[in-house]
Order: sequence, then C-alpha cells, then structure tokens
Amino acid sequence: MTTERAPRPTPKRAWRWPLAALLACCATLVDAVDTVTRGPYLQMQTATGMVVRWRTNNAVNGRVRYGTVPGSLTLSANQSAVATDHEVALSALTPATRYYYSVGTSAATIVGDATYTFVTAPTTGTPKPTRVWVLGDAGTGNSSQTAVRDAYLAYAGTTPTDLWLMLGDNAYNTGLDSEYQTAVFNLYPVTLRQSALWPTLGNHDTAQSTTFVNTYPYFDIFTLPTAAQAGGVASGTEHYYSFDYGNIHWICLDSMTADRSPGGAMLTWLTSDLGAATAHWIIAFWHHPPYTKGSHDSDTETPLIEMRTNALPILEAGGVDLVLSGHSHSYERSYLLDGHYGVSSTLAAGMKINGGSGASASPYTKLTGSHRGAVYAVAGSSGQIAGGTLNHPAMYISLNNLGSMVLDVHDNRIDGTFLRETGAVADAFTIEKETPPRVATPANAVTPVNGSTTPVSVLGEDDAGESNLTYTWSTVGSVPAAVTFAPNATNGAKASTATFTAAGTYILQATITDQGGNSVTSSVTVNVTGSGTAWGSTTASTGSAGSGGSGSSTCGVGTGVAAGVAAVIGLAIACLRRREPLRRTGGDGMR
Ligand SMILES: [Fe+2]
Repeated sequence: MTTERAPRPTPKRAWRWPLAALLACCATLVDAVDTVTRGPYLQMQTATGMVVRWRTNNAVNGRVRYGTVPGSLTLSANQSAVATDHEVALSALTPATRYYYSVGTSAATIVGDATYTFVTAPTTGTPKPTRVWVLGDAGTGNSSQTAVRDAYLAYAGTTPTDLWLMLGDNAYNTGLDSEYQTAVFNLYPVTLRQSALWPTLGNHDTAQSTTFVNTYPYFDIFTLPTAAQAGGVASGTEHYYSFDYGNIHWICLDSMTADRSPGGAMLTWLTSDLGAATAHWIIAFWHHPPYTKGSHDSDTETPLIEMRTNALPILEAGGVDLVLSGHSHSYERSYLLDGHYGVSSTLAAGMKINGGSGASASPYTKLTGSHRGAVYAVAGSSGQIAGGTLNHPAMYISLNNLGSMVLDVHDNRIDGTFLRETGAVADAFTIEKETPPRVATPANAVTPVNGSTTPVSVLGEDDAGESNLTYTWSTVGSVPAAVTFAPNATNGAKASTATFTAAGTYILQATITDQGGNSVTSSVTVNVTGSGTAWGSTTASTGSAGSGGSGSSTCGVGTGVAAGVAAVIGLAIACLRRREPLRRTGGDGMR
C-alpha cells in the first residue's frame, strides 16, 4: 500500500499576460490532454468480476487494460460511449487473484502503474483471511478525516484491504457530487483504486431528504447490486442490497429513505435474503444505529427506534453476527446481545449472551443459527467527534474519539478493532463461531470387568481443538452401585478409570463439552463380574445433549433402541472388530 495522494491533476495553465494571449489560442490543444479527474475506483467486486469507474476531463470513450502481470496488460474491456464518466465491468476473472490494470481510451492509456491493482473475491463460501476497513461519517474533508485515514494506512502497512465500507454521511454537507470529490475521491485515491468500496446511505447523502428516490448524487456515483450480481437475493434497488465475500454474507440497509416498517419492501427482502444465506458469517450495516447515546439517541429518534424494533428481530432470527452503523460521531461497541428491542432502560441481563469484554483472551463465542448473539458497533467518528452521554447500557465501551474500524475475518473468528487517529488501538474484540463437539472415538471400556476397576476412554473433536474439550463420566439409569471415575471432568478424563463396588451391568456415559457449553455424549455398557472368568458383550452409542449438540452413532446400537437379536449380534461383532486393536493397547483409543 502506498501513501494516499491526490489523482494526477489537470495541467495547470499560467494565465499571465502576454503568455496568456499565446496560450489562449492553444487552449484547444491543452484541453486535448486527457486526464483522469476522479478515480479509478472499484465497485461490485465478485469472485469473477469487478466494475471499474473513473472520470475524465474530456468526453472520450473508455478502455480498461488489465492482466495478472504488472506491465503486461494483455486483456481489455471497453466503454464505447463517449463521456466523462466511465464504467467498465470486467468479467470472467479468476477468483482470489491479483490483477493489474490501467484506464484510458481506445487510443491510449491515461493512468495505470503498479498501484492500479486489485484482488478478486474468493469463491463464494470459501474462507479466506479478510481485511475490511470501516469508515463512518467520514466525509468532512478536514484534517480529522485525514488523520483517521493516515492512521489506518500506517496500521495496514502492506496488508491489503480486501474491501471497505462507508457507513453513510460519506460526504458533507449535502452529498453533492462536488462534495464527494473533496471528501471521498480526493481523500482516498489509492484505496479507491485498489479495494472495492461498499457504501450505505446517510442523512447527509440525501441533504436530509427521506424521499425514496434514486436522484441523489450517491446513486450516480456508486454502482451497487440490484439483481444479486454479487450474491444474496435480488433487492431490485441500490438503496439496500447484499453481497457475498468468501464465507461472509454482507447486508446493506437504507435506514434513511426506505420503508422501515415490518411489512415494508426492505424488511420483506431482508427476511428473504437471510433465509437464503448460508455463509458462515453475516454482517449487516446501515447508517442509523439501533443503540447509541452519542450525538444521537436511539431512545428518542424514529429511524433508530424503527431499525432496532423492526430490523433487529429479523436479523437476529437470521443469525446476524455483527451490525455496523454510524450517525453518532463516536465509537460505541456492545456486548454480545440478543433480543434487546426496547429503549435502553429495558436492557435485561438475559439479553447479554455474553456480558464480558470480548477481548481475544475471552472472546464472544457463539453458535451458528438464530438468536445466538450479535455485536453492535457505532463507528461514526471517522471525520469528526461530537460527544454525547455515551452511556448506553448495551455498550461495553463508548468513546468520544476519532477513528475507524478494522475487521479481520478468519474462517471461524472475527477480530474487530477500533483504531484511533493517533494510531492507538482503543478497542479490540473477538467473535468466535463455535460448532458442537463431535465423537471421534466412541466410549470404550474393557469388559467384562473381572476386578473392581476398568479403564474407560473416549475421544471428541471440536473446531476449537480437542484440548479445549472437557470429558465428564457418569452412569446412566439404574445401576447396582455408585461408580467413581478418576480423573473426571477434565480434558485428561478422556482416559479414566472406573471403580466399582458391586457386580452387575452398568451403562457408563462420557459427556464431551466444549468451551461454549455445547456437548455430545457417548456411552458404553460394561458387565462387572469380579470373577475374572467370563467375557460379556459391549454395546456403545452416541447421542447429543446440551444446546445444539449432535453426534453420530459409530457402532450403531443405541442404548434403549429395540433391535432384533440378529441385528444386535451383527452390530456387536462389527463393534468388537473395531475395538480389537483398542483392547491390545489397553482400551485407550486416543490419538
Ligand atoms: Fe448521520
């Protein structure tokens, strides 16, 4: 990443008499020099496509030359229309691949060195470490915006920005094209040419109008999906849309001009879009925050109340993980929440799925699915700060500081950072997605038990790692006498010893529990004779317990399941064959 700098300016003319008179007659020649006055900037990034847009001083046709080797731009795509605003869609690109490009006309390249480069999105559904830059209410065009920008560029170093978001109020004061030139295109020329930008509409982008029309400059400036060109369900409008990037499904809503009512077009589409979403992560963004006590108050302002009351239940039912907003010129970041749809005073303890800090050492751990918790962040201080009481009880942290957010999305983890204009990290949180543990090796025991003890073992697996699992042994149903297990309720109890005080038949069950409290069980039946003379039979089963737990029966005979004698014998033989090596090693099936 190179330092942001303004685009190449139109050559300046020295209007000084008598030179002015000489140049006046040559003005046509000077103007004939085609220059890029805006961009290029990148839109509609997909695994196989990218839209390149730019503006020229002269009305000319457009050509993007591109390729995967810098200096060898052997491919091209054209805009035949003669205009000053240019838009060329590149297609049939290779996923997750770096391209280099230039923009110009059919006759000549205007700009395009090695900094004109982008990387296509990964194939949808494929996890990829993803760096996202989030700016809210940035568009002041002043030194505060510049400081926030420079802090991010220094923080990012050589790490590419895979995509970036603008959370509305992208260009003050009324969202004019000229204001976008000053506050967006002149501020971020390098990021614009390298990273696809996904914006949402703020109140200053419509000059405070709440009319649902496409005549705001925002809609001329940005090319956004209406027909699910980048994934998701077609919204039919650029006001709200969704797209996929790797294993992340992104949803942009219009909290300014769209109908926010439960049966309105936007929330009807939202329900449909979430219903079709299969991505591992769901991140939503819009301008008006559902929870804030910054320069706006989510208890009293209608757009904020309606987004909270009407959109959040749909999003949480759809499994949203992270919600990003701006509008308040502050940084406010919540706990892991679910079900908080009222004013701030109605926040109940039970709505905090996790009331901790979410710091990396104690991350917010959640399951995939409905109502497992989401983090809500207000990041509206990328161009100015404006105070407020900053005491919304849903927030773990509230700061009256300039800054932007950085998201690093991994296969199973989102790291969120608030980066101040000073370069200091003022907040960091982690959301981890937990899946229930699985039984890797069913419960085993040496049986029959000829003495008073027998080794028992089991092994689970989990996305957070086997070492994070806890194994707890117990008996199931009526047993001849209590059984003790040592060790128990530890990770080491995957290999334990059961001690008996009476002969008879026992069902010994291991409950395998992960850090999120999700569990799965596996059990084994043992016969205790104490005589040391006879072999009994062994059956094993697996099942699920706890929230979301699931397991699969490895040996196929579930306790309590009626089965024909022949089937039982056949399955028992299969199980015995599987366990034969385990017996030779003392019954410990660990790997
Ligand atoms: Fe705003």
